[in-house]
Amino acid sequence: MDYRRGDQGEWKGKIGLMKVLLIGGGGREHALAWKLSQSERVTKLWVAPGNGGVSGEFTRNGEPVECVPIGAEDLSLLLKFAREQKPDLTVVGPDNPLALGIVDLFEENGFRIWGPNKEAAQFEASKVFSQDFMVRHKIPTARSGTFDFPTAAKTFAAELDGKCAVKADGLALGKGVLLCSTIEESEKAIDSIMVDEQFGEAGTSIVIQEFLEGVEVSLHVLADGRSYILFPTAQDHKRALDGDEGLNTGGMGTYSPAPFLNEDELKAVACAVVEPWLQGCLAEGIDFRGMLYPGLMLTDDGPKVLEFNARWGDPETQVYLMRLETDLVDLFEACIDRRLAEMDVQWKEEAAVCVVMASGGYPGSYEKGKVIEGIEDAELTEEVKVFHAGTSLEDGEIQSSGGRVLGVTALGSTLEKARNQAYGAVDKIRFEGAHIRRDIAAKALVD
Ligand code: AMP
Ligand code: GLY
Repeated sequence: MDYRRGDQGEWKGKIGLMKVLLIGGGGREHALAWKLSQSERVTKLWVAPGNGGVSGEFTRNGEPVECVPIGAEDLSLLLKFAREQKPDLTVVGPDNPLALGIVDLFEENGFRIWGPNKEAAQFEASKVFSQDFMVRHKIPTARSGTFDFPTAAKTFAAELDGKCAVKADGLALGKGVLLCSTIEESEKAIDSIMVDEQFGEAGTSIVIQEFLEGVEVSLHVLADGRSYILFPTAQDHKRALDGDEGLNTGGMGTYSPAPFLNEDELKAVACAVVEPWLQGCLAEGIDFRGMLYPGLMLTDDGPKVLEFNARWGDPETQVYLMRLETDLVDLFEACIDRRLAEMDVQWKEEAAVCVVMASGGYPGSYEKGKVIEGIEDAELTEEVKVFHAGTSLEDGEIQSSGGRVLGVTALGSTLEKARNQAYGAVDKIRFEGAHIRRDIAAKALVD
């Protein structure tokens, strides 16, 4: 990489300085903004819409990271902003703008943007598309069927004795999956999605998968349409309560690496899942340049894909970016330019743990506007970073503004130490009604 150095060898900036626009406003985007702001190449960073934590970050040249009050799905305003400010690179965090085709729109207008185009984003935006693709390309997945009518769906669910996952085809704020264990439950689930239209148009078609037992892990695969980089393993905790009880959430905490796949097993999974996926994309002319995040169940019959996401996981991103050594701008650029095969990505040896602090009541209804105290205290050690998700800055105070409020993330030389650091930091932070799981990463520490 090309650096400009003065006579005394001091840093003068890297060739290829750039202004970056990041789209999104959750915990994932705070982590992306934090890591992007550490790049010597980034001289200006806007985040649309950002959150209360993003606005506390600074780029290496001392510029405050700027929140722009434009929603992540407001494509026309985002394009207008890009035309005015001319970012050299735009990075997309969430699934919705990808599904709406923000990448195609920005590219058509001459802007360089990182993320899958609309066709490629279908891997997340349509579960029917994904499931049919997996079947076509022999990617290991659950026994499944895709349906446009409830009667045929119910017949298939009955064949599975009702033990199944009923999934709305489209994006449903991460809530479109209903897990069933009896025929009665499966019929109710099918009716609620297809007849009562619980998720609106997202449920016009559905996928039914057999219910799989096993350990769930998150894979992350950065792909440039020709080659890919496999990230280390991570595990999320989707249920709201300790012991994997309670309702499904966006994710209550993560850690990396997860001990359930060693390096050889991870490579074997890549061979079984990622290779046929990439070959399938090539064969069908799908140009996937972005992050593929397969949710994987490690079953007694081997690993099986539950679903594909076409973005970074949240809160997986928080633990990955604490561990990533490589410059994130370099990585995004190599992905856009199809140079990933040349990249040597470096990770810290340390483990990372992220504990989500949520609003009381989440994922059901909850109150907002609670004043949050103790974040500075929690961050006194270098190994801890508090990523904001649902927060806003009001009159100089950080307040809660969403379901998942903070992702308290820590590094440690062992997973146990990272976990202790993370919970130590959590215990310094206070807001009314705060809800956490106390067992993040606990499964990995059981002998
Ligand atoms: P998805 O959005 O498809 O990942 O589903 C959300 C969650 O539901 C997953 O993280 C799993 O915990 C669970 N799930 C999805 N599909 C299945 C399945 N076929 N068997 C068991 N659990 C599943
Ligand atoms: N970690 C859950 C998700 O990002 O969908």
